[in-house]
Amino acid sequence: MERFIPDDIINEIRSRCDIVDIIQAYIPLKRSGGRFRALCPFHGEKTPSFFVNQDRQSYHCFGCQKGGDVFRFVMDKEGVDFPNAAHILASRCGVVIPEKQHGAGHGGKSSDETGRQREKLYKIHEELASWYSGLLNERPNSRVAEYVRMRGIPGESLSKFRLGSAPDSWDEALKLLGGKGYSTEDIVLAGIAVRNEENSRIYDRFRNRLVFPIWDEQGRVVGFSARTVEKESEGAKYVNSPETPIFKKSRILYALHLAREAIREKGYAILCEGQLDVIAMHSAGFNNAVAPQGTAFTEEQGRILRRYAEKAFLCFDADEAGMKASLRVLEILLPLGFEVRIISFPSGKDPDEYLKTSGPGALKLSVEAAVSFFDHVLNKAVREFDQTSPFGKNKIVSEVLYYISKIESSVVRSTYASELAESMKLSENIVFSELNKKLDKPSYQFRQDAEPVQPVQEEQDSGLVKAEETLLELCIGHGDIGRRLSEELPSEMISRTPVGRALDTVISLTVNGEWENSVRALLNQVCDDPSPTLSRILAGDGKENFTSENIKKAVNDCLFVIKKHFLESEMNVLLKDIAGCQDDDEKNRLRAVCIEKRKKLIEFEKIRRASGNS
Ligand code: CTP
Ligand code: MN
Repeated sequence: MERFIPDDIINEIRSRCDIVDIIQAYIPLKRSGGRFRALCPFHGEKTPSFFVNQDRQSYHCFGCQKGGDVFRFVMDKEGVDFPNAAHILASRCGVVIPEKQHGAGHGGKSSDETGRQREKLYKIHEELASWYSGLLNERPNSRVAEYVRMRGIPGESLSKFRLGSAPDSWDEALKLLGGKGYSTEDIVLAGIAVRNEENSRIYDRFRNRLVFPIWDEQGRVVGFSARTVEKESEGAKYVNSPETPIFKKSRILYALHLAREAIREKGYAILCEGQLDVIAMHSAGFNNAVAPQGTAFTEEQGRILRRYAEKAFLCFDADEAGMKASLRVLEILLPLGFEVRIISFPSGKDPDEYLKTSGPGALKLSVEAAVSFFDHVLNKAVREFDQTSPFGKNKIVSEVLYYISKIESSVVRSTYASELAESMKLSENIVFSELNKKLDKPSYQFRQDAEPVQPVQEEQDSGLVKAEETLLELCIGHGDIGRRLSEELPSEMISRTPVGRALDTVISLTVNGEWENSVRALLNQVCDDPSPTLSRILAGDGKENFTSENIKKAVNDCLFVIKKHFLESEMNVLLKDIAGCQDDDEKNRLRAVCIEKRKKLIEFEKIRRASGNS
């Protein structure tokens, strides 16, 4: 079964499969107003609370909270994953899912020029990957083959990662691809050949190197990374494909398509520095290892990873550079909500070397012994600064708080801040007030007395939740509301709950003139990350509770609730800062800011009362 299904095929299936027909094949549906109703197929019930919305092509059960689009329904009902659900649906509606290998593509479906261009680039890469890996076997006396034996890369790894050999030649790849009918232009565009600007000569980019194919998330070869096999090489250690229409380095994680199932299963990803480390990890049983590709780790890569797991273990070289790199990665992963642990090896070793010198058992132990990011940065700071001196202690606290401040969840943040206070023998007050200084956008909400309390999460404020839900419903139902919100509701005031994120999405789609795609986008969100509230909202029609006269009032009410909440939490942070502030000048400055804010809040409520009466 083909597991990679192109987007246009998914869309074709979606448009041909009516959700009412599909669900009706499993359970009887009864029309009820604008919707269809049934006894929920996912839990036992006597009165029907399962609704299907044909306009939205979505379903939701108000009893068990399951809901989503037609793909989600089949996934849940048949207990299959997305590709399998797509195949089931495809066969129901007569869509043919193309097999990747059969070159012809899907009958000119992607008719536009760029689509054809990309198809060609994929094919060039696939041809070349096969050719390189073939050469590794066919030419056992090549320098590359020798190098592979010298490094002791096992045969299994060679085939799993499709390692190959770029011949020691200026034009063999060019000739091969030329012979298959590709133009020189295409080969240069693919990054396989390079044009010398001075003499216009064109030659192979990868020569006499061990070649690693780089795949995209769906497992298509989109580029290459090639390591020198010579001890004294005048060229770079690694030569990588340039950016091309199909190869965007910042969006690619090496071996993700091989690792993603294991990442989901194990619940965490291992992030290594390079290809050989990933390969070592996989051969020691950690099929959940990936690496950034030829660049420093990016936020985009972090977001991609976050779709598969919420835990990441960092596995970087034990040298100074590796240490620095892992700290930079922390700064990216913590705000994305990752729980991060650090794997460490004896000095100077990377996973690949450690595997070779000490074996898979030792590597496994290191992974099991991974420490939390907090212990890692605290230990590092304690090693660097003198804990017994007040100034040293200040440095340690400041360093560790820097990372704590990056943590997305306020619960996790405050827990670590307390831990830090305890291990540094400082009062929580002091540590929390230092932490608040570092937060660019504090979401803490403290009581006004001096004791820090468990931060109140936005989710717990029911007024705020209701306001966002209402705005979302209204935005989905009425194209003009998103536009108004884009002007009146700054993104930072919107929460990062599923509903908040959905609201943000709809507003930006509306501003980009793509309001019609909102429901589709949100259904995708629910499909990836089921949210009962969101699926319930999607199951409604967004209009039923509001007449056209009271829509405007509802929007005003919601905006008021959200803004007031935002101003209040800003104010609470200030009050807390003032309470913990040691410096008189600073304290006075904060007080002035606080008075300004309070005025603003009072003003805000006054305007509100005035408009409420009119
Ligand atoms: N890298 C790169 N360009 C370089 C050096 C490194 O793109 N000039 C990337 C490669 O993706 C490489 C990763 O950085 O896999 C890690 O580099 P390094 O630690 O130097 O290589 P190792 O993977 O450890 O390779 P080896 O064990 O052969 O030294
Ligand atoms: Mn190495």
